[in-house]
Amino acid sequence: MSKIFVVGSINVDYVMEITHLPLLGETLPSQSFLMNFGGKGANQAVALAKQNEEVYLIGCVGQDTMGKDSIQSLNQYGVHTDFIKTIEHQNTGLAFILVENHNNRILLHAGANQNIQKQQILDALSLAKPNDYLLVQLETNLDMVYFAIHEAQKRKMNVVFNPAPVQSIDMEILDFIDILIVNEIECEMLLHCKYDQKEQVQSFINKHQIDYFIVTLGEKGAMFYHQQDVTSYPAHAVKVVDTTAAGDTFIGAFLSEWIHTADLSQSMQYAIVASALTCTHIGAQKSIQSREEVQNYLKVHF
Ligand code: RIB
Repeated sequence: MSKIFVVGSINVDYVMEITHLPLLGETLPSQSFLMNFGGKGANQAVALAKQNEEVYLIGCVGQDTMGKDSIQSLNQYGVHTDFIKTIEHQNTGLAFILVENHNNRILLHAGANQNIQKQQILDALSLAKPNDYLLVQLETNLDMVYFAIHEAQKRKMNVVFNPAPVQSIDMEILDFIDILIVNEIECEMLLHCKYDQKEQVQSFINKHQIDYFIVTLGEKGAMFYHQQDVTSYPAHAVKVVDTTAAGDTFIGAFLSEWIHTADLSQSMQYAIVASALTCTHIGAQKSIQSREEVQNYLKVHF
């Protein structure tokens, strides 16, 4: 069984449902409040663990109750937490999520997430074998994102990159990526073109020798590029409550299905349904459905 190493963030999400964004100087009561565990790295690790994968999260929490609780919750989901470090005098990462009309806006405080160190990555990757997977996003210190990618490449691992939240990066790092997964906005900011400008996208992935390029498009589904092949996949319609962690679920579900079946179309369709199901609940990790739950849903609805 392949191991998956996630270098990524661990946050506590404070979620409020609101009727509208408060104006400058306005105090607005929220419709509901929820505190739950999030962070793109942790969410993706949980999505993989809920698919029964062997997943190791490399990250940092602060020396506070939230940090301890986050690690405990990750353990309960089955994520290996031996390579998570507790950082003194730092707080665990925080995300303030405002859900307005089922869509979210996120304010982030990175806190301890910016403190990942080389040794943590080296210790974790000492367990890795060729063809295992490294999965990284952009909510941690950028130097360690690059370091992890280079170390994974040295070990002939597969590298999966989700450049979220999108920011300016050293584009040469993309030469070491096997699977690049972005949303519509990240696609435009990184590639300077729309997800359906096929020639531009293909020339970008050829230039960086990216094997598989996936754009998740929310209610428009997802698009998949591989060499000369381009395929669009429709979304799966559900009653959306909150879209938080839908993208993270897609990544975990896609990767798991892809590792086990090597069937692109099946993996895309499975990931689309899994991420749609996450949208039917409020919150991040707690909303992600297990393999069994997704499969039961598929039996009833397909
Ligand atoms: O991808 C969703 C995540 O983004 C949230 O859980 C929040 O913590 C932010 O990092």
